[in-house]
Amino acid sequence: MSKPPSGRDKASRQTRLLHAGSPMELEARTVAPPVQRGSTVLVANAKALYDTSKPTYGRLGLSVQNALAEAVGAVEGCGPARLFSSGLAAVTGTLQALLKTGDEVLVTDCVYGPSRRFLDGVMKRYGVSARYFAPDASPDVVMAMAGPATRLILLESPGSLTFEIQDVPAIAKAARERGILTVLDNTWGVGLLYEPLALGVDVSVQALTKYVGGHSDVFMGSACSIDAKLLARIDAYLRDAGIGVSPDDAYFMLRGLRTLEVRLARHGENALKVAHWLQDQPEVKQVLCPALAGAPGHDLWKRDFKGINGLFGVVLQPGSEDATEAFIDTLTLFGLGFSWGGFESLAIHCDPQLGYRTAHRPLGGPLVRLHVGLEDPQDLIGDLRGALDAYAAATR
Ligand SMILES: Cc1ncc(COP(=O)(O)O)c(C=O)c1O
Repeated sequence: MSKPPSGRDKASRQTRLLHAGSPMELEARTVAPPVQRGSTVLVANAKALYDTSKPTYGRLGLSVQNALAEAVGAVEGCGPARLFSSGLAAVTGTLQALLKTGDEVLVTDCVYGPSRRFLDGVMKRYGVSARYFAPDASPDVVMAMAGPATRLILLESPGSLTFEIQDVPAIAKAARERGILTVLDNTWGVGLLYEPLALGVDVSVQALTKYVGGHSDVFMGSACSIDAKLLARIDAYLRDAGIGVSPDDAYFMLRGLRTLEVRLARHGENALKVAHWLQDQPEVKQVLCPALAGAPGHDLWKRDFKGINGLFGVVLQPGSEDATEAFIDTLTLFGLGFSWGGFESLAIHCDPQLGYRTAHRPLGGPLVRLHVGLEDPQDLIGDLRGALDAYAAATR
């Protein structure tokens, strides 16, 4: 019997069709990393199949995810970030990585709503309880709530609807002395405006979806820490739960990150112009922007933050729900949408979201949240003037 043909060159057309043109080596070095789409990773020899020092499977990410992780870490002031499929997944994944049945979490009452829903739903079912403290509570009040089961304090500063600032360095220090972990949702601070890890926080989490992506077209989240033991627990969670991000999403996120600093500076500049103008309008009761003197949290912001972004709140003079809807519906340059951090301006009315809070302080009028984008701020001011006119007409 004749021997079957062996080797690639002698293979049939059908086999060559499957193996010809496989990627071997990069042809050129480019500014952006290669987008390696790969579930299967091919290794060089039998020994390498079980060499855990190099990737042997693509789920946890390859070149582009690693490049992004390093860049996000540089923004947060640490080594490579751990990546999750969304900001919410970064919050919920970090909590799952660090908590166990019987633990209790103390949470700022201004925490992002879906983070709260996860704690009160999924985590409760797994035997982890949560209690909430007023976002402007003093560190002493927060620490007095801690009991023997308290394992973690979840912070978010400023809150992304009501913009209270927490005394994070004091809470983090007191928590560490009692062996309690601190995790902070740093989506507003982005790392460039606020550095929780340098202020003593154990894990800084971000929705990269917002300013890092910057174009309202991609989801992702990150968790950063300088504590190797905590990182090992987050890594184990990612590995065991099978969590990774797609190379294409990572590519877009990295592309956004390259212009983060200049975009953020312009968002902040524009927001300040719009906020100052709003302060002087008769229909406005208060502007909840921590950079304004007299705004809640202003002193802590001045001490701990390096700037502002485009997101802040506006409390209108008392008026009906219909009048608030007239304000929102009159806007033409501000889109109506539940996000922020993209290049464009957005607005929502917030009161329907505040009901579930346990420590809500009455604001004295309807709350509207604005995200000031990269448009000409004078155009945005014109749009807001029209909306305030509609509010005033509907309130009369
Ligand atoms: C403060 C804050 N944290 C987390 C998230 C969740 O981010 P993602 O939409 O990427 O899940 C958001 C989204 O709006 C947010 O505002």
